[in-house]
Amino acid sequence: MIVPPPLHAVIAAAEAPEAFIRDSTVLTETPLVPEIPLHVASEVVPLWHLTEEELGRAGLPPPFWAFAWAGGQALARYLLDHPERVRGKVVLDFGAGSGLVAIAAARAGASHVLAADIDPFALAAIRLNARANGVRIEVTDRDLVGDPMAGFEVVLAGDVFYERPTARAIESWLRMLAGTGRDVLVGDPRRSFFPGAGMRQVTAYAVKTTREIEDSDVRNAAVWELMPAGADGEAAPGADASG
Ligand SMILES: C[S@@+](CC[C@H](N)C(=O)[O-])C[C@H]1O[C@@H](n2cnc3c(N)ncnc32)[C@H](O)[C@@H]1O
Repeated sequence: MIVPPPLHAVIAAAEAPEAFIRDSTVLTETPLVPEIPLHVASEVVPLWHLTEEELGRAGLPPPFWAFAWAGGQALARYLLDHPERVRGKVVLDFGAGSGLVAIAAARAGASHVLAADIDPFALAAIRLNARANGVRIEVTDRDLVGDPMAGFEVVLAGDVFYERPTARAIESWLRMLAGTGRDVLVGDPRRSFFPGAGMRQVTAYAVKTTREIEDSDVRNAAVWELMPAGADGEAAPGADASG
């Protein structure tokens, strides 16, 4: 017979990541989106080690959730300035990290926002950041790549083209969603594996960032509409090899 853990243990486990994030980050203004403060880290490496200690595991991915990435900042700014893109709509924020883009969509009037990230710490960060910004966001740690996303009208993805093995799969999934009538908006500073074609640039911003995670203090990040497979998208200029 499987004996369920006592309720207090379940609650403690669920609260642990949130307490850890509260203790290891500072609620900070987001440079391009000052309306949305986030729990972010001032230094990546110490936080990374702390996360590994917290879980008693080495070799974890970096704490992506602890920063507002340039692509996400651009997309969030665009949504707040163009709320009609999501107002009254059912929205997915894929690769949500801190939840910045999801929070912007909720603030812009989306009727329902699902934030997806495979990192359990990201889910805790999204919950905490959503609460700090007074919005409701549903979260999932399911890997949705390949899912038909029935019922979703808009798909948002901030800074998700940073790894070769995943970028191709994410791109073809997003293109499939665009091909079935969904609006797919991507925020990206032309990372190494950003798709070079079939993206229409909507707008661009100079985003203040940190040398903790980038090689310059400012990155140019654009908002792109992803065209369905086979559509005549305006080819985006080549990817920036600086990562
Ligand atoms: C560079 S961060 C960007 C976070 C946020 N969108 C932003 O712009 O600040 C990329 C995020 O994608 C998440 N991610 C990677 N593969 C994923 C997948 N298959 N499903 C959901 N999230 C994924 C990572 O865990 C990470 O939090």
